[in-house]
Amino acid sequence: MPSIPQRKITVVGAGYVGMTAAQLCAQKHLASEIVLIDILEGRAKGIALDLNQMAAIEGIGARVVGTADPKQTYGSDLFIVTAGLPRKPGMSRSDLLEVNGKIVAGVAQYIRKGSPESFVIVVTNPLDTMVHLMRAKTAFPAKQVIGMAGVLDSARFSWFIAESTGANVTDVDAMVLGAHGDSMVPMPQFCTVNGVTLPHLVDKARIDAMADRTRGGGAEIVNLLKTGSAFYAPAAAAVAMGKSILGDERRMLPCACFMNGQYGFEGIYMGVPAILGKTGVEKIVEIPLDNESRILMNKTAGAIQKDIELLRSLALL
Ligand code: NAI
Ligand code: 2OP
Repeated sequence: MPSIPQRKITVVGAGYVGMTAAQLCAQKHLASEIVLIDILEGRAKGIALDLNQMAAIEGIGARVVGTADPKQTYGSDLFIVTAGLPRKPGMSRSDLLEVNGKIVAGVAQYIRKGSPESFVIVVTNPLDTMVHLMRAKTAFPAKQVIGMAGVLDSARFSWFIAESTGANVTDVDAMVLGAHGDSMVPMPQFCTVNGVTLPHLVDKARIDAMADRTRGGGAEIVNLLKTGSAFYAPAAAAVAMGKSILGDERRMLPCACFMNGQYGFEGIYMGVPAILGKTGVEKIVEIPLDNESRILMNKTAGAIQKDIELLRSLALL
């Protein structure tokens, strides 16, 4: 069994994304203690028990604690926040703003109180607004509070490119920036299959169709599942981000970061490429945007700003 760092990771919300994230943290030996907290105490405890029993088979050294008590999260190095309602068919992510905003604000209180040095990866939707709220309520440095969306949206684009070209998905690198919503910005000019750029492999009509399918990638799964949304890829995306931070891997991953003039935006979270390492967001990477991408980035920023105004009008911010 590999050695396990003496670390504590808390996953907030023991639903589909949260339980899968806790499992991946355990199987990747990321921490010695993994806390799974949910308002449904029995669910958190039951999943923790199941994971601890899986540990005997899988050779996992982490101890998983299921709880409804925020005090048990104190002293965590990393939070993955998945608490909140998922979408139902026909709902947009913004429809979740009020109910999930109240949940995220409550979670921020105990993160701030009990784990003031921690990193926080927010998954709860609507993502760009919820990460903004988490940062405002914790008052943490922005580099410690990051939203998960771009890794997932890029993974979806990667899969469609793999299907379309017949290539192995592990040879595909795709990039999606902007908001986690209909206005997200797939960047085909920066997608490659083992170094070969996408426009050299696939015609424009097929690229446009894949980009559209990526924009609707979450809804496609919601419509198939009918009772919830995607969870394997979202959990894997959040854990990859946490792993890069805790292990100082310095991976460049698209994620929702607080903009401080980069790309011409100020004071909002949005999806951009960032290097994640031991201080959190080590650097936001600015790539050149052509006219079309610039227009789409401005549009996506407008959509995020609109949701932030909505949050303000609900007195949540
Ligand atoms: P789920 O319904 O399976 O789980 C949510 C869990 O949160 C439930 O167990 C619920 O009891 C718990 N919860 C509610 N209030 C809580 C609180 N105050 N403290 C702790 N736990 C609380 O939902 P699922 O599928 O796990 O999705 C979770 C969230 O993540 C949703 O908002 C969903 O839209 C979002 N999501 C975001 C993605 C992204 O790319 N950013 C991708 C996938 C999901
Ligand atoms: C997703 O993209 C619903 O945001 C969630 O799967």
